[in-house]
Amino acid sequence: MLRYEPVYYDADKNMSEATRTVLQPDAATTREIDQQTDPGFLWDFWYPASRSTEIRVQKLTRALLLEVPLVLGRTAEGKVFAMRDACPHRGIPLSYGRLDGSAVECSYHGWRFDACSGQCVEIPSLTSQDKLKVERVFAGHFPCEERDGYVWVFMNAPGTRVPEKVPEVPALAVFSEKYKTIHLSCELPSHIDHGIIGLMDPAHGPFVHQSWFWRKRASIHEKAKQFEPIPNGFRMSPHSPSTNSAPYKLLKKMTGEPVTTVIDFVLPNLRTEIDRSGKMWFSSRATVTPVRRDLCRIDFVAAWNLPFPVFLFRPFAKTFLRQDQETMIQQAEGLKHNPRLMLIDDADRQAKWYFALKANLLESRRTGTPMVHPMDGPVTLRWRS
Ligand code: FES
Ligand SMILES: [Fe+2]
Repeated sequence: MLRYEPVYYDADKNMSEATRTVLQPDAATTREIDQQTDPGFLWDFWYPASRSTEIRVQKLTRALLLEVPLVLGRTAEGKVFAMRDACPHRGIPLSYGRLDGSAVECSYHGWRFDACSGQCVEIPSLTSQDKLKVERVFAGHFPCEERDGYVWVFMNAPGTRVPEKVPEVPALAVFSEKYKTIHLSCELPSHIDHGIIGLMDPAHGPFVHQSWFWRKRASIHEKAKQFEPIPNGFRMSPHSPSTNSAPYKLLKKMTGEPVTTVIDFVLPNLRTEIDRSGKMWFSSRATVTPVRRDLCRIDFVAAWNLPFPVFLFRPFAKTFLRQDQETMIQQAEGLKHNPRLMLIDDADRQAKWYFALKANLLESRRTGTPMVHPMDGPVTLRWRS
């Protein structure tokens, strides 16, 4: 596997030149590296890196996102931050160091960096004779925010600067002041693309998720669902959900009003589902986040105001995730040998849209032209599940 050569430079002599070299490597070199090792990630999006509860004050925590090692922490004021887990001096992971108030101190030579900006604030070895401008040294850092119980990190592409205007962190839709929530996650030994198309696959339900509370294999029937394009994704248009699922039947019984469901997929990795019936609502989001090219993680968060206690809901959701996880473990076994694969109409059409959205987004970024949406307009898909 191709690796970046370490870059050494004489910081005292030519700081600004050197900084530029590190931040913007020669375009030709970057292209060559990309072609040989492109892991198929989508950069310049927010990804959940960790649960909020795992990031505690004055403690450094490691995370890996899109094969980028990160060190996460929380300053004394409670603000979360994400830095590249490598000291810009000699590359030792900053996570071996310590967090002191709002500065991370490297364990090797004690350089200290402001945790939220990455800016160096102290180099202990410098004497009064040294001309090095400490404030011009930066450790890699990423925009970092908390939402819905997660620490999100905006992953800008390697070798680029963080854009001046970073989009909003995705938020889970909620429809009342009081509600219950649940967070679950599980890892899949899969490339992000397999993780995502598995998440949106409509045909595996009756086989993988067979259970008394969801559906039986015998309940398979033909469905027609309308889809429409939305920015960076597609929407299963509002509809009354599957009549062979117990939870939806129950919801309808409780409110006596029709249930409507809206399911969206939006790049890079978000699937949201909102079920509403009268005043009752259930809202969930699953994200599939690339950790490495052969590993991704599903983070599932749900909120609801239905009178279902969390302790009743949790085992169902866990069973669901485990069934998907076991399937993906088995699939990874088959994919090791590089088999030829198929995408069929209409059951795999959402997967086709995902690949087209991703390709068109990359193309629009490459050319600087507006992104072409792969869907012309609303379309009805039919499958049996
Ligand atoms: S390697 Fe971090 S201070 Fe030297
Ligand atoms: Fe599933």
